Amino acid sequence: MNFTETQNEIRKVLEDKNAILLAHYYERDEVQDIADILDDSLALSISAAQTDADIIVFAGVHFMAESASILSPDKTVLLPRLDAGCPLADMITLPQLEEQKREYPKAAVVAYVNSSAEIKAHSDICCTSANTVQVVNSLEDREQILAVPDGNIARYASRFTTKEVIPWKGYCPVHHFLRPDEIKKAQKAHPGAKFVAHPECTPEVFDMADFVGSTRELLDFAQKTDAEEFIIGTEMGVMHQLRKQNPHKTFIPASNRMTCSDMKKITLDDILTSLLERRHVIKVPEEVRIPANRALERMLKVSQCSDDV
Ligand code: 13P
Ligand code: SF4
Repeated sequence: MNFTETQNEIRKVLEDKNAILLAHYYERDEVQDIADILDDSLALSISAAQTDADIIVFAGVHFMAESASILSPDKTVLLPRLDAGCPLADMITLPQLEEQKREYPKAAVVAYVNSSAEIKAHSDICCTSANTVQVVNSLEDREQILAVPDGNIARYASRFTTKEVIPWKGYCPVHHFLRPDEIKKAQKAHPGAKFVAHPECTPEVFDMADFVGSTRELLDFAQKTDAEEFIIGTEMGVMHQLRKQNPHKTFIPASNRMTCSDMKKITLDDILTSLLERRHVIKVPEEVRIPANRALERMLKVSQCSDDV
């Protein structure tokens, strides 16, 4: 089957099985094009919590499918490739988190959603790149925050709070290695272009940005801003929607090394096989799911409250 035939077949099987395909903006272009919901981590979590479908097929990485299973325990959650992981999520273990908690007994633990279900279960609240600052500031009775596993997001949030945010040493290998000299080079070649960055970049990089935000926020900014040219400091997959939504604007990758190989693992064939053979089912055990759900729901409540304002 060619791409279009496989895409059509997937859409047909999704309908037959009352299934829904959720995809992240970093997925392959041909996967993005047939998703029921294509969005960033926060919006995908909300969709996973709200859908009426019986089956959720997640075109993303393992922690995203886990979050869907935590939020929708009665649904079947399928991850077409079990090896689609997130190296950042693996950068903290439970014993390491427990040690941090012993060192900072008064601190609240904020777990970036790019973390395992087990880490979420031992945290006070979750956050995504779209709401870290709101989440940190929502913890009114706590002055110290342990932010795990991403150190850069923690450093970003610390700019917008009076609380002490203690970063863990994890990082996203795709964003962390974007260098200021690469941005300067792109800016020299495209004077006047706006530079936008994901908060998983280092402070040296996000300090150079005209706008910092989650993938969806970067897309919104590109659409609403008058500028014609943008230098993009996030994973390459986002280029597909940027160009689709803004055919008359120009988007320049800040570096051509910003590809997340895990986000590119799931192919159309994998999605079809996953649907036909019900694999791979992601199910979080109840003893982990219940406390992890508390941390995720607490985050969703904070995001909801700020949307209502
Ligand atoms: P978003 O929160 O922007 O969806 O990003 C998720 C992610 O994995 C970033 O590397
Ligand atoms: Fe993880 Fe980075 Fe890939 Fe996002 S881009 S899934 S944080 S490795």
